[in-house]
Amino acid sequence: MSVSAGFDARRFKAMERAGFNRIAARYAEGAHLRADLAAALLDAAELAPGQHVLDLASGPGLLARDAAARVTPGGWVLASDIAEGMLAEGARRAAVEDRTEALAFTAADAEHLCLPDASFDRVLAGLALFMSPHPPLALAEMRRVLRPGGRIALSVWGPREAVPLLACAQDCIARLLPPPKVARPSVFRFGDAATLTAALTEAGFSDVRIAPCPFRCHFPDADSYWQAFLDLAGGAAEALSRLPGATQDALRAAVAADLESHRSADGGYAVDALALVASARA
Ligand SMILES: C[S@@+](CC[C@H](N)C(=O)[O-])C[C@H]1O[C@@H](n2cnc3c(N)ncnc32)[C@H](O)[C@@H]1O
Repeated sequence: MSVSAGFDARRFKAMERAGFNRIAARYAEGAHLRADLAAALLDAAELAPGQHVLDLASGPGLLARDAAARVTPGGWVLASDIAEGMLAEGARRAAVEDRTEALAFTAADAEHLCLPDASFDRVLAGLALFMSPHPPLALAEMRRVLRPGGRIALSVWGPREAVPLLACAQDCIARLLPPPKVARPSVFRFGDAATLTAALTEAGFSDVRIAPCPFRCHFPDADSYWQAFLDLAGGAAEALSRLPGATQDALRAAVAADLESHRSADGGYAVDALALVASARA
């Protein structure tokens, strides 16, 4: 899947890394909104005691933490991410919760893993593949580190129209701010099952299984929705933090207006999202 002309992958990754470092603690706090998606991914991975698991682009390692409970005794999980602040947050939380057994953290770019071939039984990649400037590279690395017959389990956002959780905020940003000089890859680019299946198959995976995972997020007010968006989208959070306060206020107001169509009976907002959960054999 190609990226637009002038796209600078190194700059893009640096921006995402800075953004996810910025939001690490808040990302972990907001993860309860996506608990059903995390559970679906872990189920799709078919984890069992004794397995060795790599959680790629792990963020604060919440999937890794829960996977560790499923692969012990005998197994272990390595959580890895490009944003070291995410890993520090994950390690801090695991220590506080006394859940460090069978769980380790290491910094890594998903497209260039310093890990041996055929060293894992499972690779997890929650909401991550679309972050990669070169998804075939990332998928090739995932397959390389899996033992033959091992499985990948990943989640991606569904089609844009099914994910107002992100699209509502993105639409306001697109309306109020000048277009970026260089287009960023869309987070919805694997949003239909055929595209995702093709990417996995072309990377050499077989037995591809894909299931939709719809979920709904509840927010007491529009500011909570906007904050949840900023706590989820590292690169956007980083870029928006550099804008003048008045522009940020205007965005907040536009989001509040657009969100009206998602009003719920309790006076808050109910905003839908759809993700795809895929698993496949190496
Ligand atoms: C939306 S978060 C997903 C976190 C977690 N997997 C989950 O399911 O909640 C995306 C994560 O990908 C990481 N990331 C972005 N680009 C990456 C890359 N090239 N290599 C490794 N991690 C990357 C970010 O730092 C961030 O923690």
